[in-house]
Amino acid sequence: MSIKREINRRRTFGIISHPDAGKTTLTEKLLLFGGAIQEAGAVKSNKIKKGATSDFMEIERQRGISVATSVLAFEYKDIKINILDTPGHKDFAEDTFRTLTAVDSVIVVIDVAKGVEEQTEKLVEVCRMRNIPMIVFINKLDREGKDAFELLDEIEQKLNLTVTPLSFPIGMGYDFKGIYNIWERNVNLFSGSSRKNIEETIEIENLQNPELDTLIGEKAADVLREELELAIEVYPDFDRDAYLAGNLQPVFFGSALNNFGVRELLDCFVEIAPKPRPKASDTRVVQPDEKEFSGFVFKIHANMDPKHRDRLAFVKIVSGVFERNTPYLHVRNNKKLKFSSPNAFFAEKKEIVDVSYPGDIVGLHDTGNFKIGDTLTEGEEMQYKGIPSFSPEHFKYINNADPMKSKQLNKGIDQLMDEGVAQLFTLELNGRKVIGTVGALQFEVIQYRLEHEYGAKCSYENLNVHKACWVEPKDSKSDEFADFKRVKAKYLAKDKRGQLVFLADSAFTLQMTQQKYPNVTLHFVSEFESEK
Ligand code: G4P
Repeated sequence: MSIKREINRRRTFGIISHPDAGKTTLTEKLLLFGGAIQEAGAVKSNKIKKGATSDFMEIERQRGISVATSVLAFEYKDIKINILDTPGHKDFAEDTFRTLTAVDSVIVVIDVAKGVEEQTEKLVEVCRMRNIPMIVFINKLDREGKDAFELLDEIEQKLNLTVTPLSFPIGMGYDFKGIYNIWERNVNLFSGSSRKNIEETIEIENLQNPELDTLIGEKAADVLREELELAIEVYPDFDRDAYLAGNLQPVFFGSALNNFGVRELLDCFVEIAPKPRPKASDTRVVQPDEKEFSGFVFKIHANMDPKHRDRLAFVKIVSGVFERNTPYLHVRNNKKLKFSSPNAFFAEKKEIVDVSYPGDIVGLHDTGNFKIGDTLTEGEEMQYKGIPSFSPEHFKYINNADPMKSKQLNKGIDQLMDEGVAQLFTLELNGRKVIGTVGALQFEVIQYRLEHEYGAKCSYENLNVHKACWVEPKDSKSDEFADFKRVKAKYLAKDKRGQLVFLADSAFTLQMTQQKYPNVTLHFVSEFESEK
């Protein structure tokens, strides 16, 4: 099979939402359409239920499940679809940000009653910064919620997007009658007494067609005509190039639970969503159809069983064909590695594969070689960009609670940081280790995993840090930088890559430092280019 054809038929995307908006339900319905699963309930939610934050068994269970659902692949209309799972829980937001580096587009799910929520805002902002094409799915139309125009307004304002509806609801909640599909120009009626999974599609090209009045009632038909007229006037026409450039976001309405509006979403998605996109490395932009294989690690999953401490590194293939048992260059270590049992993912199973194409994800067994962001190539020395670390929100000193096990502790900390569970900062002054995390939950996860996987015990000590900033002096030999290093010595640390980091204890200190040292730039992201 030609590589071009394989690339053209791949769509790799992520579904993002605030917890409970319906991401899991929508994923499941997409898999049902693809014939990848036979019944609802097969895809387990990866979220940690409320109140379970200290329940380690729950964390473990959640981790186990998210391995299985990390990549869900299926075929629909001869298109190979890869859905990359993104954790909804905010404490795992960084995991989601990293996964977003491996998708070519996203679907944003919004609850019709709740509208734009906090997690949606954060995730969409990351997608917007990277110009990732987005489709919005407004879910739970079977319930009472906000008015369609009000919601579209809210999305434009809060998420800073330019939307255009490609479907429009007819009624809502108890009066929900169906959807007018602007994209395909037909009416999908939501009918039947059980209001479950019943769908009828009637072609109505022209809205003036009196059949519409017969189908949904004269009053509803008039309202629909009026609303659509307004929608067409207010919102820009759909333009695929604008969507692909991240400048225009089409919106669909539906109810994932009732399987309503999902097929319309999927049919449009396979038509408009991008095939694997080119990706920038530190030396050049790599095209998917280049002959030589290249890819990067965006996620590492540890085996929770201490007897089998192998890990699974998830590699997104950017270019060429990945082949089993072929030596590839691990660029950071300058070492050739061969993989005898690479995994590919199909719905909920994983299987060993011989070849994989751009857009696909392969899971590689790893005994500790990989870090998040590592690049594999056929020999070219380049490193993919775009997996930055963000300043953590919580910081604590980590201490060894069992002096006999310091080797195990160090190894454990090292490996957990490689997996991206948290960030480690080593203070310049005294070598003390500081752990920085996105959410409070990670401290418990780290403590638990150090004990159960590495046999090491740790304790934490509070530390007052507001933000970690990566330091970039204009001139590393200047007096200004020397003064900065001397005055701030107590607050300087190295991150895992050896980059200099300033741990500012308050917003005020940060501001004063920026004023006092104008030629020492303080970045909130470890990869400076990504801030521009
Ligand atoms: P998430 O992955 O985004 O966190 O959301 P999830 O799909 O788990 O859905 C959250 C809740 O919303 C679930 O109910 C789910 O059944 C419900 N839901 C999803 N889509 C729709 C929809 O179109 N209409 C309505 N009315 N509800 C919807 P739950 O009670 O929390 O869980 P469950 O016990 O039903 O699984």
